[in-house]
Amino acid sequence: MSSPNAESVPATAPAAPEWFRPSAEVLQHAWVKDYDKVYKRSLEDPEGFWSDIAKELEWYKPWDKVHEWNYPFAKWFVGAKANIVHNALDRHLKTWRRNKLALIWEGESGESRTFSYYELSREVNRFASVLRSMGVKKGDRVTIYLPRIPELPIAMLACAKIGAPHSVVYGGFSVEALRDRILDAESKVLITADGGYMNGKVIKLKEIADEAVQKAPCVEIEIVVRRTGQPVPMEAGRDLWYHDLMSLPIASPRCETEQTDAEDPLFMLYTSGTTGKPKGILHTHGGYMVGTYITLKWIFDLKDTDTWWCAADPGWITGHSYIVYGPLLNGATSFIYEGAPTFPYPNRWWSMIERYGISVLYTAPTAIRGLMRFGEAWPGKHDLSSLRLLGSVGEPINPEAWRWYHRVIGRGRCPIMDTWWQTETGMIMITPLPCVALKPGSATRPFPGVEADVVDEKGNPVPANTDGFLVLKRPWPAMMRTIYKDPERYTQLYWNKVPGVYTTGDSARRDADGYIWVIGRMDDVIKVSGYRLGTAEVESALITHPAVAESAVIGKPHEVKGHAIKAFVVLRPGHAASDALVEELRAHVAHHLGPIAKPEEIAFLPALPKTRSGKIMRRLLKARELGQAEGDTSTLEE
Ligand code: WTA
Repeated sequence: MSSPNAESVPATAPAAPEWFRPSAEVLQHAWVKDYDKVYKRSLEDPEGFWSDIAKELEWYKPWDKVHEWNYPFAKWFVGAKANIVHNALDRHLKTWRRNKLALIWEGESGESRTFSYYELSREVNRFASVLRSMGVKKGDRVTIYLPRIPELPIAMLACAKIGAPHSVVYGGFSVEALRDRILDAESKVLITADGGYMNGKVIKLKEIADEAVQKAPCVEIEIVVRRTGQPVPMEAGRDLWYHDLMSLPIASPRCETEQTDAEDPLFMLYTSGTTGKPKGILHTHGGYMVGTYITLKWIFDLKDTDTWWCAADPGWITGHSYIVYGPLLNGATSFIYEGAPTFPYPNRWWSMIERYGISVLYTAPTAIRGLMRFGEAWPGKHDLSSLRLLGSVGEPINPEAWRWYHRVIGRGRCPIMDTWWQTETGMIMITPLPCVALKPGSATRPFPGVEADVVDEKGNPVPANTDGFLVLKRPWPAMMRTIYKDPERYTQLYWNKVPGVYTTGDSARRDADGYIWVIGRMDDVIKVSGYRLGTAEVESALITHPAVAESAVIGKPHEVKGHAIKAFVVLRPGHAASDALVEELRAHVAHHLGPIAKPEEIAFLPALPKTRSGKIMRRLLKARELGQAEGDTSTLEE
């Protein structure tokens, strides 16, 4: 199989696989004790399987049908009424969990805030009442651009409560990225902050938001949370302080939860694809609720005694599903940390695990590799005995990082759940459960109800240990319903590549034991430090600079980041290559798209290799960069 963008850097099945089997203690704690049995039942009777799970949650009105499949458009819990916030908050207030901690938050400078289920629900109600009284109705899209502070989940939940789909834009994105996302969603309301803290520095969110809004005139109201206290311009008639609104009588703690249909949109989350225009991945109240609830419960064996920490940002799907919705649906205590892992010292994470008694840590391989560099002495100073399980997400975890995580952080006792999934899938799809034996570097088996396969272009399964396309063969409750405003692109991108199945865009191989090893992206998506970026987005940002005529971007393997961005640039006449220009272009991308998209390296070329029809051959640039065979160059323009 040709896999232009996927190289087997991290995930390679070891010749003699090394097994890590669950301990008696882990097994005893497990919700699911026999994976094979549960998995078999889930495929034989999917409707029974999913409806049994759905019945663990509360519905205003039950479904007429579990599932409707009008290829490639799915509906789940058809005819049912449910609001995810009813299950994430309202439901718990009737039980002892009313006074349990829902959120624990620690700011980068050390301050902390906590919210019981009662307190969180009260804040959400008050803000939902504010939004409603400002005219935000069911179906209105609200864009949220906030740092990692409690107001971020509060704003998300307030929108969901009144049936207004939220579109969260990661706080590390910048002007163009924010503007494009606001415009596509046609949001009238933008929720932002005066600034945020990261690595001891202040991020000027309001400044970026204002610049984006200048080019996105649909925004009528900007609600601004005060985080840093720095002076920011407030435009009369448009900008309002969050704390001012929350002190008015309109911020009523009584707020009816909108009785949404199971299929009503809950949020869209924009993600990078093969073109410059980000795709609004649309998720719904009912199916997403069932999927995030059960995956978190079974994969991490969540119990009421746990303190769960998903160290992602709520601005990405991992944070949506496993900082906000999944934990609250399970009535768990979710920990959120605002800042950088190494601030002020490289023991920050380990110190928080000790101080808060974190029992499950869920993070990305890039963070582990980054912290590994500082050595074992930093974690060694801390009592990490509260941990019982570890998780990994976002990119393949190389066996070396897996073993370090297992030995140094998990002290050899904590199994690692390597979870494969996507913004589009809404929930974890390929993953061990704690009862499954592990092999470092493999995401192991599909979650119950999920049918995954590794196939060739025609959809035929490839033999064991052979690279192929990773596909999903049947619909699942938390799957995306469409690309917002673009059902055609949804069909084309995901359901038309290999006949009859969902194409993930990843390549993988399956070993003789049936374990899946995800290799990486096969398209123009690059995972940089676990963040998902499109080559086209970076290229579009580069060509807005006056010196740039053309550009092409590739992902280059990087020891810590997984992949780093390398950009090739053709200059316009009258501009000369220089180190100063490299720095200027990197700053330009950071300003337009965000610091995470800043190219690691920029090289100047007289021309880019293109096909005769004018398409840039990124594959060739990549092969040359990595010193690999150039492959088929018959279409290359002379
Ligand atoms: C990659 C993140 C290997 C994969 C939840 C996928 C992984 C993309 C893993 C989706 C994993 C995620 N092992 N690769 N455990 N988890 N990926 O939408 O390439 O930001 O297609 O969702 O991340 O990225 P996204």
